[in-house]
Amino acid sequence: MKNPWIDPDRLPPEEALSLARFINSRADIPDQSQAHAGLVEVLSPQPGDQLLDFGCGTGVIARRLAPLVGEMGEVVGADISRVMLDFARSCGGPAHLRYEQIDGATLPFPDDSFHGGAMARTLLHVENPHATLVELRRVVQPGGRLGILECDWGTLALDHSDRALTRRILDWRTDTIDGNNWMGRQVVGRCLAAGWARADVHVLVTVGRDATTTHFGSVRRCGDLALQNGMIDQSEYDGWVGELDSRLAAGLFFASINEYIVIACK
Ligand SMILES: C[S@@+](CC[C@H](N)C(=O)[O-])C[C@H]1O[C@@H](n2cnc3c(N)ncnc32)[C@H](O)[C@@H]1O
Repeated sequence: MKNPWIDPDRLPPEEALSLARFINSRADIPDQSQAHAGLVEVLSPQPGDQLLDFGCGTGVIARRLAPLVGEMGEVVGADISRVMLDFARSCGGPAHLRYEQIDGATLPFPDDSFHGGAMARTLLHVENPHATLVELRRVVQPGGRLGILECDWGTLALDHSDRALTRRILDWRTDTIDGNNWMGRQVVGRCLAAGWARADVHVLVTVGRDATTTHFGSVRRCGDLALQNGMIDQSEYDGWVGELDSRLAAGLFFASINEYIVIACK
């Protein structure tokens, strides 16, 4: 299936804007906010740092970094999508936070321009992840650090009485929808292959037990997509999603997923 995140500007404008609204509001959900805070904490930005937020989308990470580097520093939010960047600018921010439209395959910055950077939920979508990691390494100073946040759909643990159907739906979703959903487990290897000297990994397990988390909506959407794409029939859908809904109502919904925060050092 076509991945809309490769370049949201290729979509009809209303669809691109709805992706922007989706990621911007998703950042307020507690499990997402926990992952973003974890990325920033491990990256540990210092006052005066010049940082790049690559694949910044609507700027949810850039806006966390800007107060930490202060006005002596600078944060550049960079993204391929004009729609995402316009949305990011409309969210405001200090003068030392700016946005630039770029393509990850060739970054318009000199060698060693940044003290470090962040990249959240983007490497799974870029068309050439190796070239992107090589370019990011080029523009980061020696000794600089890039913090990468990616989850891994292969680590989604969902409780359901129909194990075979659950595996079928989740495996299909993992292998088919929206990018490389095994990126979480691949980030370390890909960073080392791209020439980063070291890649240290921190794992955060987020748990969803009710509808206030991203887990319930994401899992239910797997059922919707599987039905729409002919992977399951209506009676399988009714049984599978029906059990998710009853578990939710009874307080028995349970899903968890691994979020990988990798710090790559040049
Ligand atoms: C899922 S969004 C994540 C946005 C943001 N980092 C966040 O966590 O909310 C992925 C972003 O990567 C951007 N993107 C995809 N391919 C890109 C490329 N080759 N160069 C730059 N940005 C790219 C998309 O436009 C989109 O904004």
